[in-house]
Amino acid sequence: RKRIAVLTSGGDSPGMNAAVRAVVRYGIYRDCEVYAVHEGYAGLISDNMKKMSWDDVRGWLSFGGTLIGTARCLEFRDREWRKVGCYNMIKNGIDALIVCGGDGSLTGADFLRNDWPSLVADLKAEGKITAEQAEHHGHLYISGLVGSIDNDMAMTDSTIGAFSSLDRICTNVNWIQATADSHSRAFVIEVMGRHCGWLALMAAISTRADYVFLPELPPKSSSWTEDMNKVVLRHRKAGSRRIIVIVAEGAIDDDLNPIKPEAVKESLDKIGFDTRVTTLGHVQRGGTAVAADRLLATMQGAEAVEAILDATPDTPSPMIGIRENKLVRVSLLEAVKETKAVAAAIERKDFEGARALRDSEFKE
Ligand code: F6P
Repeated sequence: RKRIAVLTSGGDSPGMNAAVRAVVRYGIYRDCEVYAVHEGYAGLISDNMKKMSWDDVRGWLSFGGTLIGTARCLEFRDREWRKVGCYNMIKNGIDALIVCGGDGSLTGADFLRNDWPSLVADLKAEGKITAEQAEHHGHLYISGLVGSIDNDMAMTDSTIGAFSSLDRICTNVNWIQATADSHSRAFVIEVMGRHCGWLALMAAISTRADYVFLPELPPKSSSWTEDMNKVVLRHRKAGSRRIIVIVAEGAIDDDLNPIKPEAVKESLDKIGFDTRVTTLGHVQRGGTAVAADRLLATMQGAEAVEAILDATPDTPSPMIGIRENKLVRVSLLEAVKETKAVAAAIERKDFEGARALRDSEFKE
């Protein structure tokens, strides 16, 4: 009988509770015992884990955030702390781990898996675990669920939380449009997404924004203000009372200088707009998950359990994705590598390359 631990890590995202609920319930259905680790990887270090029953997750679908807590746990990069985590897992009889988080959190899980045999050997040599425990816990089986609002992970079409966040952004932009229309004002709205422009681009399309700045499509540093001004003036002339400019938080120009909402406002003010700046902030991450994220998390949570049950010590760590509406298991390390390749292409100003990589995520 497998004993599976589940944790959420990194920035929370709507749908994480649905994912944990699915792991708990599907795990029990498949005759496993499921433990919830609280506060992300920090809970492995502090032995903050609790065996979950079917009833423990009742009603979780409709809660936002993550009810088992999350953290960005830097200690876990340190082998000594990982050893403490390994000890606590063995003490609790756990032999598999499902992590729901972004690329950093999933890489952490693979790291632990790789280190595991040597950590177990150390613990045995130090007399902290018995030879039988070392034998029984020779391998750690892991599987990854991508929980992030940013939708920045390669090899999957959608991350858990991205559509909820997009929905929240659109609702907020609609609200802003009402006041912008009333006053004939321009609004510059910054949206989250770290180095990925997915949220900003989809929000711009969905709300009919007048202009958008994205990390993957940097405008010319020498002329972006004039280029934007031309477009918004044309829209104003055509009768648009409100002007909406969406700025991705990772937006840059082609010299890699950040494009800040204040600089956009300054440019709009100069050509006569009465401009306000709104940073949506963590509103984008809060609230309950939309149905699409609840469904995605539920299906992927069950699939993560299946992946654990199928795994052998030689199976590469799987990440559960979705492509063209079908659940897929892909190599977690490959997905993280491709995700990092986009950021690296942007850093060396190979913007076309970055866009091609993003496109291939959807076409492959
Ligand atoms: O990765 C999710 C995210 O919300 C990003 O969009 C944003 O850059 C970051 O997390 C904010 O992190 P924090 O909540 O730690 O300020």
